[in-house]
Amino acid sequence: MLKLNTDMIEPFVGAEDYKRAMDEAFHAFDTLVSGKGVGGKMTGWLDLPVNISEKTLADCRLVASRWLGTLDVVVVIGIGGSFLGAKCALEAFSHSFASAGERNSPHIVFAGYSLSEDYMSDLLGYLKKKSYGLIVISKSGTTIEPGLAFRILRMNMLKRFGAEDTRRRIVTVTDERDGALRAMSEKYGYTSLSIPSNVGGRYSVLSAVGLLPIAVAGFDIENFIGGAREAREYLMKKTKENPAIIYAALRNIMYRNGKKIEVFANYHPKLKYLGEWLKQLFAESEGKDLKGLFPTTLDFTTDLHSVGQYIQDGERIMFETSILAGSKEVEVIVPKSTDNLDGLDYLVGKTLEHINMMAEKGTRLAHTSGNVPNIYIEMEKIDEWNMGQLFYFFEFSCALSAYMLGVNPFDQPAVDVYKKNLYKLLGRPGYTD
Ligand code: PA5
Repeated sequence: MLKLNTDMIEPFVGAEDYKRAMDEAFHAFDTLVSGKGVGGKMTGWLDLPVNISEKTLADCRLVASRWLGTLDVVVVIGIGGSFLGAKCALEAFSHSFASAGERNSPHIVFAGYSLSEDYMSDLLGYLKKKSYGLIVISKSGTTIEPGLAFRILRMNMLKRFGAEDTRRRIVTVTDERDGALRAMSEKYGYTSLSIPSNVGGRYSVLSAVGLLPIAVAGFDIENFIGGAREAREYLMKKTKENPAIIYAALRNIMYRNGKKIEVFANYHPKLKYLGEWLKQLFAESEGKDLKGLFPTTLDFTTDLHSVGQYIQDGERIMFETSILAGSKEVEVIVPKSTDNLDGLDYLVGKTLEHINMMAEKGTRLAHTSGNVPNIYIEMEKIDEWNMGQLFYFFEFSCALSAYMLGVNPFDQPAVDVYKKNLYKLLGRPGYTD
């Protein structure tokens, strides 16, 4: 199980505050697991690691094997909770230079997460001589960004491949019953997987929303779910050692003590999109009723050479949650050079992982001494099992934390303000007044 390390935050937390916050976190735990809290109808994600149906797993495997070796590219269309989990998982699992085409599985690219015309025209150009398929993910089936991307790419497909072949090249993931995408899937006979009605977008990575792209990219969905299942077993215990309960308590103490920002830091480029996924999870779950920590992300050591100055010495409004991961088995060792002109001979024989860990330790000490409390979460390595655990851990902690804050963790009413304005400006029928 991944480890939560609190050594570097303890000096900033009073014993009384901790006791009170833990009591509140226990109460939030009861509210969450009973499903009786506000938004409690949307807690289906809690049981996904044990309830995911054999049919969903089999469907994912079937699509993956159907497309293996037959398609060059699969475009995954989606935005927000229908995009970030899969993007994060695939970045984490893939070889850093996988786009060079070293694998047998189709190359996965994403669309529908912006309205950029440049991006879409580049994508159409890129697909021109490729045999490609589409995975279209939208719970509501009405979101404008993925809706437009789907329309453009479907029309492109129809022209190139004809109706029957296009049908075989499209798989949808959408609400079990409702929405435009469900209706289209039925009308045109697309293979379609379901998102359970009681699972919201940002809590959906362990459903077909995350599993299908992961399987098509050639990664192990059983291990991914297995890791989440192990995390669930551990986190469903109401104990004072439960890392999700402790983490929710600590971040609420930080907030009450005047911190406004939680910085999620990582030390691996492969975890960049974990930060993006975390930003959505926490911002949409907690940022309401004029409350909530603002989540942001930093990629270390890159950002130590840019915003590191502010963290160390700017306004004292943030605390840091670092996600640490060991590297894979292959070691990269600093070699001896002929002249030591770069002055790096003192590192000869050391692994890059060791040097990265020392950078992390040095940063933690520096930031803590600069009054930026630090929490860190350690996983053994970046793989399906550990990422499954991590996703579940953060979902669980986030829901607890939002309940402690007194907000509904599962709605996002403010997102509608943008959507309604956009519809109005574009003249969508029914939105023009
Ligand atoms: O968390 C959420 O609910 C949102 O971010 C949605 O996932 C996002 O707006 C996409 O919605 P949909 O899946 O309905 O297209």
